[in-house]
Amino acid sequence: MILAGIEIKEPVVLAPLAGWTDTVYRQLCKEFGVGLIFTEMASADALVRNQTRTLDICRFTEAERPIGVQLFGAEADTLARAAEIVAELRPDCIDINFGCPAKKVVKRGGGSALMRDLSLIEEIGRAVVAATPIPVTAKLRSGWSDTVVVEACLQLEQAGVAAVTIHPRTQKMGFKGRADWRLIAEVKRALKIPVIGNGDIAAPADARRMFEETGCDLVMIGRAAQGNPWIFSRTIAQLRTGVDVPPPTNAERLALCIRHLDLQARHYGEHVAVYTMRKHIASYLKGVPNVAEFRDQLFRKNDIGEVRADLLAFADNLEETTVNA
Ligand SMILES: Cc1cc2nc3c(=O)[nH]c(=O)nc-3n(C[C@H](O)[C@H](O)[C@H](O)COP(=O)(O)O)c2cc1C
Repeated sequence: MILAGIEIKEPVVLAPLAGWTDTVYRQLCKEFGVGLIFTEMASADALVRNQTRTLDICRFTEAERPIGVQLFGAEADTLARAAEIVAELRPDCIDINFGCPAKKVVKRGGGSALMRDLSLIEEIGRAVVAATPIPVTAKLRSGWSDTVVVEACLQLEQAGVAAVTIHPRTQKMGFKGRADWRLIAEVKRALKIPVIGNGDIAAPADARRMFEETGCDLVMIGRAAQGNPWIFSRTIAQLRTGVDVPPPTNAERLALCIRHLDLQARHYGEHVAVYTMRKHIASYLKGVPNVAEFRDQLFRKNDIGEVRADLLAFADNLEETTVNA
């Protein structure tokens, strides 16, 4: 399908996940067929202040295309200037974050705090669209405390935004309760531009159900992709055939975990990789039997050679079971 002028081979999208979906993990997800990728959110303020670490968050490899760079901020001018900066990296689209509920973001008026001011949403949409020729997309929650997402999306469509992603929870809900997929359906009915549905896809069959229940154009997967890029290949297979492909075996999980560790070491250096991999390792190991003690000991080690050797030894002694996903 074509979204925002971008050709997308599979209707399954990797969600932006701050602290998780770096270039290394995104490249792994790409191997599993993901159709569209977003970077972790990057601060527009930091970009206009020339912070190189923030610009680094926005960098990607050609293998990751199609890819959108996501920006967060509170002011139209700053977001527009940040869009000009990231446009130089030539992403396939630039995404505006209207959904982040984190305190440090909303106290400065960014992320889901923007959902309190519909006119500002439109102003931001217009400013970022005008800033560069690159298509602009937006990712929204359903509102701050009340549901305003349909009105907000209509404003963004008017402003020239090319597609929207809906995570139908309010800021107040955080990650609690259930995502209200009926709101995705409402937005889809109200808009002409493509709609990406997001929220609570835990397994491939959920993605099929989201398409059926909401009529959305693509589905986006976040937490279910942590330590689990198989969610993409399995979802694509489920959408094509209606049949559930079995989840990976524990041995497959461990093997990919070790490869991920090696890729991180190559990208960030061994010292950084040992620390940044801990959360990923915990996710790959989730649900593996008798893992708690092994994991606690592993996370006390700072030497990548030891971590790698322990993972290999653990893999060798695994009972062959699969984790239900
Ligand atoms: C650890 C974590 C980091 C996240 N970072 C971002 C982010 O940078 N930008 C964003 O728009 N949403 C972010 N989100 C929200 C997800 O993109 C997604 O909307 C949400 O997790 C719901 O989808 P899911 O049920 O498939 O996880 C984050 C969520 C989590 C759990």
